[in-house]
Amino acid sequence: MSANEKPTIGVIGVGWVGLVTAGCFAELGHRVIAMDVNADKVEMLRGGGTLPIHEPGLPELVDRNSERLEFTTEMAHVLAHCRVLFCCVDTPPTYSGDADLSRVQAVVATLPDGGEHALVMKSTVPAGTGEAIRRSKPDLVYVSCPEFLKEGTAVADFMQPDRVVIGADAGSEWAAELIASAYEPLGGEIVHTDVASAEMIKLASNAFLATKISFINEIANVCEEVGADVTEVAAGMGLDERIGPKFLKAGIGWGGSCFGKDTIALKKLAGNTGYHFQLLSAVIDVNELQKRRVVGKLKERIGELAGRRIALLGLAFKPDTDDMRDASSLVLAARLRGEGAHVSAFDPVASDRARRLLPEIEICESAAAALEGADAAILVTEWPEFAELDWQELGGGMANPLIVDGRNFLDPAQLRAAGFTYEGIGRAPVGEPGRVA
Ligand code: UDX
Repeated sequence: MSANEKPTIGVIGVGWVGLVTAGCFAELGHRVIAMDVNADKVEMLRGGGTLPIHEPGLPELVDRNSERLEFTTEMAHVLAHCRVLFCCVDTPPTYSGDADLSRVQAVVATLPDGGEHALVMKSTVPAGTGEAIRRSKPDLVYVSCPEFLKEGTAVADFMQPDRVVIGADAGSEWAAELIASAYEPLGGEIVHTDVASAEMIKLASNAFLATKISFINEIANVCEEVGADVTEVAAGMGLDERIGPKFLKAGIGWGGSCFGKDTIALKKLAGNTGYHFQLLSAVIDVNELQKRRVVGKLKERIGELAGRRIALLGLAFKPDTDDMRDASSLVLAARLRGEGAHVSAFDPVASDRARRLLPEIEICESAAAALEGADAAILVTEWPEFAELDWQELGGGMANPLIVDGRNFLDPAQLRAAGFTYEGIGRAPVGEPGRVA
């Protein structure tokens, strides 16, 4: 490597985080060698065809940088060319709620002794993992560099980070410097700290964001009781600089790969030390109840749900992704089926994944097909195209034009004008109140 040449970066695990990390470092001019144990996935990526995940902007980025991006199943090949290895393997929750670190441990086991290589932890791990790994492998150069990317905007988030957190302890300084200079062109604040604090920044950030959402969801529930509108309340609150306007959208609960996993991991982490994290327990409970409250709303309107046809619009945990992990739709669909309802659904992108996860519901090819003959609809995911639908026509095809807008996304006046009874979350219903026979 010449003096001004950028170092080759290794990425271990080409799931969502790994692919975004690999593609973005290649875009910044690094040669990247990305490794995965799944040979089929590696073959697919080498072929330059469709990516195994849906992330806006990523296919173009990977395509544009294909000359700098190499995919392999061989760890030895990565070790031969890269000093810095970004660990992006998944750490799913176990039955006890602890993170499953077996894939991380498998990576650590393949690293040679001698301190020539640095392991940069991107995977979400409990605070204390870095220390435990270094105890088992004392000369390992270990850096915690937690991930804050949001699905759907991951490429932009990587390229314009609010901050980059680099946690390194004594002996790992060279790696911390190398990582800092790789991120430096992006302009975000670089936070240098110790490993344990970096690990906690990640868990605490996600737990705080989840808390913000559960908080506004509880405010929404109180708004319904007192006749206030939570969207107005959130807007008014958000103008206080100390509060800020983001993550104050009330709805049917948070989902996704991080919030559920990280809140439980932090709660368990605290519990394992004997500390009961009461606030976080409530945050998680509120989120579970929030998904179920929608079923109560429907029952108030149309009575028992057995034999009724209920349509779900959107299944992914949020728009611009096909990710169904911890999606509110999963609980909602199962609850509705539990009540004996027939459930039809449409999602513009997540249908294939949903079919595997929700075999008992009818996945349709269009919103119109899902709504045809329905006694009620629930908007689960705020896909932009749902705002553009011809609601007049869609309402005409329903047995009963009732919609519960689980994301406060649609325009109540427009829906009312199209003949709908509209009910949001934490705002006054419009249209005909009461039961529909
Ligand atoms: C989150 C974190 O934002 C990110 O920093 C971390 O790296 C991974 O977890 P992500 O799961 O991709 O990212 O989605 P995000 O946009 O944060 O939304 C999470 C969930 O919260 C979604 O289900 C979304 O619908 C919900 N949400 C978000 C709300 O209900 N209200 C809000 O105001 C914001």
